[in-house]
Order: sequence, then C-alpha cells, then structure tokens
Amino acid sequence: MFARIVASQIYLPQRIVSNHELSESLDTSHEWIVKRTGIHARHILADDETASSMALSACQRLLAEQNIDPSLIGSIIVATSTSHTAMPSIACQLANSLGINDAFSLDVNAACSGFLYALSLGNDRIRHHNDHYSLIVGVDAMSRITDWSDRSTAVLFGDGAGAILLKSDPDTGLIGIRCGSESHGEELLRVHGNLHSSQPCTLSMDGKEVFRFAVDRLYTTSQNLLASHGIDPQSIDWVVPHQANSRILDYVTKQFDISPLRVVKTMAQHANTSAASIPLALHSLRDSGKLVRGHRLLFKAFGAGFTWGAAVCEY
Ligand code: ACO
Repeated sequence: MFARIVASQIYLPQRIVSNHELSESLDTSHEWIVKRTGIHARHILADDETASSMALSACQRLLAEQNIDPSLIGSIIVATSTSHTAMPSIACQLANSLGINDAFSLDVNAACSGFLYALSLGNDRIRHHNDHYSLIVGVDAMSRITDWSDRSTAVLFGDGAGAILLKSDPDTGLIGIRCGSESHGEELLRVHGNLHSSQPCTLSMDGKEVFRFAVDRLYTTSQNLLASHGIDPQSIDWVVPHQANSRILDYVTKQFDISPLRVVKTMAQHANTSAASIPLALHSLRDSGKLVRGHRLLFKAFGAGFTWGAAVCEY
C-alpha cells in the first residue's frame, strides 16, 4: 500500500508586509533582501491569530473541498515549532474542531524540516496501521519568535499553514522518504529564551554557516534518496523544496543538473514559513495548473537542530 497525496489547501494571513515596509523600521533595503534571499514580501498573522487558528483554516478548506467523512481520517500529524500552547497539541485541537474521533494525533517539532518528518509519520500510518486517510499539516507563526530589531533575521520569515491529505492507494504514492538530524548545529540556529519566563523568545542564526550546511545537506540527502531507489534525477518533474533562500536552491539545482524551471520557488511572496513552506509551495504548483497526476515530485528540507529530510513521490 502507498500513501498518496490526494488534496492540499493552505491558509495565509491577510496582512502582507513588503520589503519596503520593513526598510522603514530596519536598516535594510528591498534590493539587499531580494539579491541575498529572493524574498519580496511575507504574510504576517493578526494579533488574534495563532499557529493553531491558521492550521484550522487550512484544514477546514481542505475537508470542505474534498467532502471527506471525518471518521475515515486515522491520523492528524502537525509539524510546527510555534504552537502558543504546550497542550493539547494543535493536532488534538484540530481533531476537536473538525469532529475527528479516534485519530492518532500529535505535533512534531523538527523546525523547517518538520513537514517531511510529519509526512514520514503519515506514510507509516497508512502503510503499517491501515489508516484510510492521514491529515498532514505544516504550520508556523514565525513572526511570533522574530526579533524585529535584528535585520539579519527579521527579513527572512513569514507566517502560514499548509495541509495535505494522504490516502491509501494500492498503485502509487510516496516512493521513499528519509529524515535525520545531527548535533553540531544547535548554537548556529536557535530560539533563545525560556518559554516559562516572561522574557520574549527570539530566533538567532549564523546565516553563513546555516547556508553552507543547507547546500551540502539538501544535495547529499536528495541524491542518496534517489540513488537508493534507482531514480534518475532527470526523471523528477518538480522539485518542491523548503523555501529558505533562493540562492541556496540555485546552488543545489546546479549541483543536481536539474532545470531551474522544474524547481518551485515561492519565497518571493511567502518568505521562509518554516514547516509550512513545502505544503505552501506544493499548493501553489497545483494552483498553477502545471502539476498533473503521475508527475514525480522531490521534496527536500533542512532546519534548526540541524534537521533534514527528502522525499520522492508520484503525485
Ligand atoms: N539588510 C542589509 N544588510 C544586511 C542585512 C539586511 N537585512 N542583514 C545583514 N546585512 C549585512 C550584514 O550586517 C553584513 O554587513 P557587514 O559586511 O558590514 O558586516 C553584510 O550584510 C553581509 O552579511 P552576511 O550575513 O555575510 O550576508 P549573507 O550574504 O550571508 O546573507 C543571509 C545573509 C541572507 C541570512 C544568508 O546567510 C542566508 O540566507 N543564510 C541561510 C539562512 C537560512 O536559510 N535560514 C534557514 C532557517 S531554517 C529554520 O529552521 C528556521
């Protein structure tokens, strides 16, 4: 049995903050941000919104569009590192709000690689636990952990949510997936502070070191995954990567010898939405009308930890 992606939906907050708007309060410029990152704008959630409310909006849209019987959803797996509550998990909040009973429900935190970790768990649920459907969500409210006075990180992130539905399929779907982590990145990319104190917790990063790690890991992980399944990179129709930085993707694309036209980039409009960035990019590809059933997709991501992951599937 395969886990096949049968639907996707997204939620993006209404407020769009342009690079120009950021440059009014930070010593930066639209030109610098576009040249170094490819980012033009980002969505920022309203005061009364949370990661949980964004995830719910994406899932409500998805289930309404698909007219799914909630009792057929066997698992809800939410990738996030910005939940505003310690418990219950966003997955359990979704189960309650959507009327889904008896589902295996949990949140996973693997930072920007979280969506692929969640996909890996959803794949296991369908293959080994006979779930008919598995609901996988990537959501992050990065603006809530951004240090808005630090120009080196404040320009990079945005908020959003993306949900996909996996369905058991006897013929095709997810072909392979690998996720992992390594220990040396802890100080290079982290949120400082203590959630149990009243001080704000904000993200800091050694951009250059993270850049180096990301290029190396995105390439080797994807290459090893494809090689282990005997898949020629040239047979990939679409690469749907985590959207951290346009230059990182350009480096990896060159190493891979894959046409840049096959690499989906949405950071211009969304910036880096952490665990939400792959489902947002996938949905934008679907909306463009270019993605058709049977296409081969390669997902890849890296994030704080360091964590990393890659997956290959037939859509
Ligand atoms: N506007 C203008 N100047 C800036 C800005 C800004 N927003 N930010 C930094 N600078 C300045 C620096 O102060 C520095 O100035 P100096 O030379 O006078 O000291 C200069 O620009 C160069 O800074 P660098 O940090 O060397 O710039 P770099 O080319 O490395 O680009 C960037 C920075 C965009 C952050 C890059 O390193 C990068 O993209 N790294 C990877 C980031 C990433 O992918 N993060 C993923 C996070 S994943 C997760 O799990 C959350």
